Amino acid sequence: MRVLGIETSCDETGVAVYDSDRGLLAHALYSQMAVHSEYGGVVPELASRDHVRKILPLLTRVLHESGSSRQNIDGIAYTAGPGLVGALMVGGAVGRSLAYAWQVPAVGIHHMEGHLLAPMLEDNPPAFPFVALLVSGGHTQLVEVETIGRYKILGESVDDAAGEAFDKAAKMLDLDYPGGPQVAMLAERGDPSRFRFPRPMTDRPGLDFSFSGLKTFTLNTIAAHRGEDGLPDNQTMADIACAFQEAVVDTLVIKCRRALELTGLKTLVIAGGVSANSLLRQRLEEKLAKIGAGVFYARHEFCTDNGAMIAYAGCQRLLAGQRDDLAVRAIPRWPLTELETMEA
Ligand code: KG4
Ligand code: ZN
Repeated sequence: MRVLGIETSCDETGVAVYDSDRGLLAHALYSQMAVHSEYGGVVPELASRDHVRKILPLLTRVLHESGSSRQNIDGIAYTAGPGLVGALMVGGAVGRSLAYAWQVPAVGIHHMEGHLLAPMLEDNPPAFPFVALLVSGGHTQLVEVETIGRYKILGESVDDAAGEAFDKAAKMLDLDYPGGPQVAMLAERGDPSRFRFPRPMTDRPGLDFSFSGLKTFTLNTIAAHRGEDGLPDNQTMADIACAFQEAVVDTLVIKCRRALELTGLKTLVIAGGVSANSLLRQRLEEKLAKIGAGVFYARHEFCTDNGAMIAYAGCQRLLAGQRDDLAVRAIPRWPLTELETMEA
């Protein structure tokens, strides 16, 4: 089965073609970063308009690059939520209408399910069941994954998401949006022994997270070291970025290990934008090897938003027989636990 996947939930237009026999055939991504960076965050209306401009040229390109035409596309998957409603509507309207015109089935995919399954696109995919750490700009969740569609939330952030915390810390450190990769880069020049930031909620049992306190701690540390131009010197900024990253990574590692011990599972999947973080990958591999557990993640470009993960998830759901009706689905808030389960 060959599936066209469309992702437009936030500030990235992603399109891909996945074939159940031959794997990923083509994918393309347009990032709106430049459009939003002067505002320090995503402006929803600008995002919708930019998706409208970019989606059809991307579709044409990906169909061509994958050697596909409308005759050999067997189904269309689009991100139905969660996300920005206007942005979701663009991908949903295009995907659902094309499927109607081409007389193939369409499915609306949960964005976080897409992320969660992205490591399946790699050569050595994880096997079910596993624990997934979903860490993106909007979500921080530990999920017990029995199979596609069977998800149990083990813990989640009670306030900011991990990616959001990175983005806010970046703003305080005068770095550009999106902040995660920038903070990580600055942290490389930092001295990890200079500051120690708290590891929130690790001193009590449970698998929930809280990152808003780290934000205040970062702000206070910056304020205590201000120079004449209002910011600390360059080395201090790098030391703060380093301490911040260490604290977030350490907290995530502690909770992942706890989730594996609690469930008795030996496989951890990390997914979403923050799973691109090199320190997080390295620490998890080190620490989880000690308890005999393996860590799986997608290549960098499939950690952040992309069309390939949506095409893959859609293909699995279509193969299992899921068929949506003719409605364009756009669900801004959509708990992962409310997905249709699939029969094995
Ligand atoms: O999954 P994603 O592309 O979009 C959402 O669904 O939210 O995640 C974007 C988030 C942003 O907050 C970004 O700062 C963060 O992922 N991010 C990173 C890294 N790359 C992206 N955070 C830390 N380290 C990175 N290398
Ligand atoms: Zn995402």
